[in-house]
Amino acid sequence: MSVIAVIGAQWGDEGKGKIVDLLSEQARVVVRYQGGTNAGHTIVNDLGTFKMRLIPSGIFNPKAICVIGNGVVVDPGALLVEMDELEQRGISCARLLISERAHVLMPYHVLLDQLEEQQRSEGGVGVGTTKRGIGPAYQDKAARIGIRVGDLVREEALLTRLSFVLNHKNQILTRLYNAKPLSLHQVYLQMVDYGHRLRKHILDTQLVLYRAMDEHHNILLEGAQGALLDLDFGTYPYVTSSSPTAAGACLGSGIPPSALDNVVGVYKAYCTRVGDGPFPTEIEGEAADYLRSQGGEGHQEYGTITGRPRRVGWFDAVAARYAARLNGIGGIVITRLDALDTLPILKICTGYRVNDAVIQHIPSDISVLQQVEPIYEEMPGWQTPTTAARSLADLPEAARAYVKRLSALIVARIDMISVGPARDQTIVLDRPFDSLPNIVGKYVGAVGEHNWGE
Ligand code: IMP
Ligand code: MG
Repeated sequence: MSVIAVIGAQWGDEGKGKIVDLLSEQARVVVRYQGGTNAGHTIVNDLGTFKMRLIPSGIFNPKAICVIGNGVVVDPGALLVEMDELEQRGISCARLLISERAHVLMPYHVLLDQLEEQQRSEGGVGVGTTKRGIGPAYQDKAARIGIRVGDLVREEALLTRLSFVLNHKNQILTRLYNAKPLSLHQVYLQMVDYGHRLRKHILDTQLVLYRAMDEHHNILLEGAQGALLDLDFGTYPYVTSSSPTAAGACLGSGIPPSALDNVVGVYKAYCTRVGDGPFPTEIEGEAADYLRSQGGEGHQEYGTITGRPRRVGWFDAVAARYAARLNGIGGIVITRLDALDTLPILKICTGYRVNDAVIQHIPSDISVLQQVEPIYEEMPGWQTPTTAARSLADLPEAARAYVKRLSALIVARIDMISVGPARDQTIVLDRPFDSLPNIVGKYVGAVGEHNWGE
């Protein structure tokens, strides 16, 4: 048995969905542990192309139980739409379980996210949220006025709680924002209806996880967003309101940290970021448009959910190593290598210059990160298509050298390299579920003994 967390190790959109889809073939349980409908990823497999938001990517493995963990904020309407779409395309959601402890993303959260973001922007401190209500839902969780998924099926208690909370929210909506209040009657009936429709999926999911652990099954913990958007360790305040890190994987699922056997960090071969916030290696203009347009139709750098063009930049090894340490990453996956196929020169940021000093970490002071000047090393591009490569030997020498350099700079071994959106467009060097167990915390910087063809 192994418990593995797959985390995004940059600012999200690293291609985790495809990797979780691949790894879930070996998993008995797949758990999504944080975030909500702010996440969106595209999965391409034998069954077609799917845009996922809340449902764990493991849903495509008919043997896997999929859990929406307590750390997620669940928009029940969006979840039901996602479930219907999958069912209509022949993918059963009977194995989908939702933690009673997960918080419900309510209609007022969406309204407040928009109003709060507008107010922040006017005050010059906008975050560029996805406006899906994520921040306000986590605020209520911490303020202990959240509605939990389990409440949806306890109608009387729900009414008592919602009466109080909605009155409170309506005062904020009307008095602070001059917006219209919401009707208790309508919101209550809507939630009761969601409760009825989701009832058979709602339970104390930790018990399922403990049983899977007792029976020595493989468990995969699936993150959303990325480590640099972490509420504590990301580029605060330009972060999301949850913890996409390995620690968050435990907290958002109920798996004890000591049970985690490995953490797989997914890195894009370059960087992207959606929304505001510092991005030291960002490139703009024509070069950025060019990079954004790579990856083929439907796989270009535009947000899956919001459609916003993603900001793009060179690989940032300082940020990458910071994420590796923060999460105890034991194996790395490099995605979208093929997007670099036509570039003559590639740059990698190996340090940040601030005044006369060079720093090698993400400073907590955002104003410092906003000023840093990246120090680059350059490597030759390969200018050869890599989408058909299935082994290291199939990659052009310059591509091998690039990936090897990333591995050395991140100081972790490479498990997989992705060269296209399809499942088989993957170079598998090591299957994380088959690797040595319990390497978490033994982060010693093994770059790995792969045959690099030298
Ligand atoms: P929120 O999560 O909607 O509150 O947005 C906070 C920040 O996280 C914004 O900069 C968003 O663009 C960013 N963000 C949230 N979810 C994702 C994601 O799935 N991929 C990339 N960025 C995200
Ligand atoms: Mg995404």
